[in-house]
Amino acid sequence: MAQYGKKDYWDERYKSDEEHFEWYQRFSGIEHIISKYIKRSDRILVAGCGNSRMSRALYDDGYENITNIDFSEVVINQMSLFEPKLHWEVMDVKDLAYEDGSFDVVIAKGTLDAVLCAGLQDGKRMIEEVDRVLSDGGIFVPISFGLPEKRMELFDPGSLGWQTKVHSVAKPSIENNTVDSKGGFHYVYVCKKGGKEDDDDIVKKECSDDIVKKEECSFSDDQLSKSTLIKKKTKTENPPHDEAPA
Ligand SMILES: C[S@@+](CC[C@H](N)C(=O)[O-])C[C@H]1O[C@@H](n2cnc3c(N)ncnc32)[C@H](O)[C@@H]1O
Repeated sequence: MAQYGKKDYWDERYKSDEEHFEWYQRFSGIEHIISKYIKRSDRILVAGCGNSRMSRALYDDGYENITNIDFSEVVINQMSLFEPKLHWEVMDVKDLAYEDGSFDVVIAKGTLDAVLCAGLQDGKRMIEEVDRVLSDGGIFVPISFGLPEKRMELFDPGSLGWQTKVHSVAKPSIENNTVDSKGGFHYVYVCKKGGKEDDDDIVKKECSDDIVKKEECSFSDDQLSKSTLIKKKTKTENPPHDEAPA
């Protein structure tokens, strides 16, 4: 749905429900990838942070240099009160108020998918801005439902000079709180700015064709609404359960 690209939609959503939502994956689901590529001393921008607990989990794991941004001032105000130790700013990912090369890592869990709901041009604008604020050798880590055959077009090494590696992570099962590949995958892209073709760490693609063929997808919002949404109650720490986006 095109609404996922609109600020008004997110403002309303965060106003009407202050409980934490974790889109796609919890930190524990992607921790092995984060620790492989990101150093504790890296300057990290979490773009489109929402009210995810990932930044707090990163912080607790020793990644202390984290800046969180979202274009919804509603959620940024809520998160500033909830997690005052962390740094929160209202900002559009398509128009970043940071100098070139300000960050070593930009993490965007679900954000690129949401921005693409506003149109391909918006997605491209976000990527240009991410590229600009990344240091040389820095990495962009979008976590997405979007299949490599679709998303890789956006991370074109020809125009951006990025080398991209893709990791697939099984979607968590809502019913029994387990993880298996039957429910499909999320994709963690690791796009290295200035990576060379023969770079040992970052190769172009790791996904098997098998995985790629399992799901058909496009930039449509419908896909976003079908993606796994995990809801966690702040106080009770209940196991996550499913909720269709409003
Ligand atoms: C799918 S949610 C993901 C939230 C969070 N990253 C998570 O994993 O739970 C997308 C988030 O991106 C934010 N967002 C969408 N478009 C944005 C933009 N152009 N600039 C900044 N934030 C944006 C929304 O407000 C929302 O919080």
